[in-house]
Amino acid sequence: MVPYRPEPLSDFSNPAVAAEFERALACVSAQLGKRYPMIIGGRRVDAPESITSVNPSRPDQVVGYAARGGLAEAEVAVDAALEAFPAWSRTPAEVRARILFKAAAVMRRRKHELSAWLSHEVGKNWVEADADTAEAIDFLEYYGRQMLKLAAPQELTRIPGEENHLYYRPLGVGVVHSPFNFPLAILTGMTAAAIVTGNTVVVKPSTEAPVIAAKLFEVLEEAGLPPGVANLLYADPVEVGDYLTTHREVRFINFTGSRHVGCQIYEKAAKVQPGQIFLRRVIAEMGGKDAIIVDGTADLDEAAAGIVTSAFGFSGQKCSACSRAIVTADVYDQLLGRVVARTRALKVGPATDRETDVGPVAAARFQQKILEYIEIGKSEGRLVTGGNALPGGYYVEPTIFADVAPTARIAQEEIFGPVLAFIKADDFAHALRIANGTEYGLTGAVYTRSRENLELARQEFMVGNLYFNRKCTGAIVGAQPFGGFNMSGTDSKAGGPDYLLLFTQAQTVVERL
Ligand code: SER
Repeated sequence: MVPYRPEPLSDFSNPAVAAEFERALACVSAQLGKRYPMIIGGRRVDAPESITSVNPSRPDQVVGYAARGGLAEAEVAVDAALEAFPAWSRTPAEVRARILFKAAAVMRRRKHELSAWLSHEVGKNWVEADADTAEAIDFLEYYGRQMLKLAAPQELTRIPGEENHLYYRPLGVGVVHSPFNFPLAILTGMTAAAIVTGNTVVVKPSTEAPVIAAKLFEVLEEAGLPPGVANLLYADPVEVGDYLTTHREVRFINFTGSRHVGCQIYEKAAKVQPGQIFLRRVIAEMGGKDAIIVDGTADLDEAAAGIVTSAFGFSGQKCSACSRAIVTADVYDQLLGRVVARTRALKVGPATDRETDVGPVAAARFQQKILEYIEIGKSEGRLVTGGNALPGGYYVEPTIFADVAPTARIAQEEIFGPVLAFIKADDFAHALRIANGTEYGLTGAVYTRSRENLELARQEFMVGNLYFNRKCTGAIVGAQPFGGFNMSGTDSKAGGPDYLLLFTQAQTVVERL
């Protein structure tokens, strides 16, 4: 087997690649407005109601209509997953892994088309959309290989007169709740990990991104995934969430989304229901209030570039996004100036335009919430750039507040938009204390040339993903397992060697010789 290697990103400076992407955009744009049924037990299931997916760059454009299910469909989907489980869990691991490898190949073939759907559906610019699709391919390739390792004989201490084995068995039926912000990569990763380990799932994608979920299911079908192993349920989470979370046959919930919903699921899932014979497992990846620390020894241009990319990539709608720049006083004004200059140079516009740096946010209600935080910020700091909505789509200008107190709401609460707080620190140790002073602990970065400060940060910076002298977004599957501490979630480390274990129960089998 060829060793795992991350999928290369597309080089859009190559005119031939750019032309291919333009063709993919045109091809997708000609397919907008179709209807997408749910897929349950391999059957297409329509419903009288719809979830309408619009293009956030121009909300009058409908990307697609998804059949909106409810409790009845949720029940049928759980039943379909239960029915598929016995055969799928007994399917050899290498057959399950091969389906992932085949799906990766299909995605690679359809790469630009899938990215073009992402651009239309959630407003990812070319580069961000391409990275999302590449990461989806990575998850398939990586988890397929990880499964082969888990299925191989495990190293155990030999005891004379006995033959000992450790088998990683699947749990059963699970639910996948995927977010809007990596609607292909995270959806694919969460689903692939659950099924390659032998479980069957009900997949409830974000209501902001139903069409790309349909595309994943097309890929899985082409790869030969048997009916019922993954079931696509389009529904309002408020309507079906509790039913799925508390179902006595649902063994695990794989959730990525807001802290509020994650905590609710965690609490409700813990209750053992009448007739339930197991403790339900919850994997929850939630928010962040991620900081980049810069001290006086740092390369300020590198730091400024890293902060801008981390804060405003995909309009700050990443749990890994930098929302706090914590800078020692000696270089604070200088760095602020450079970050503001770079931010003002960003081009805000439709995600499908090649030159766009910052597209819209994904929904009107997200735009509204971000604007409310900007109003709060005006009383908590000095607005140095941005601060406005822009017309035509759900646009929010990249926004920076300076001189923000570490305890301010915009320095503590996750905004999930293009809003950055600059915070001044007395020295590096103070900066670290500020960085650790939130309830979250997902990503963080440090820009410094001081070995002493790097080692201090290595020891003391309490985040799941800590980066030195680089941006704090864009973890690479297989290289940088991803997940956070504290209220950022269960630190599941997606894309890492421990992730698949979360979907298994290990069985020790001992035979006396
Ligand atoms: N894994 C993504 C990143 O590292 C966030 O979900 O940016």
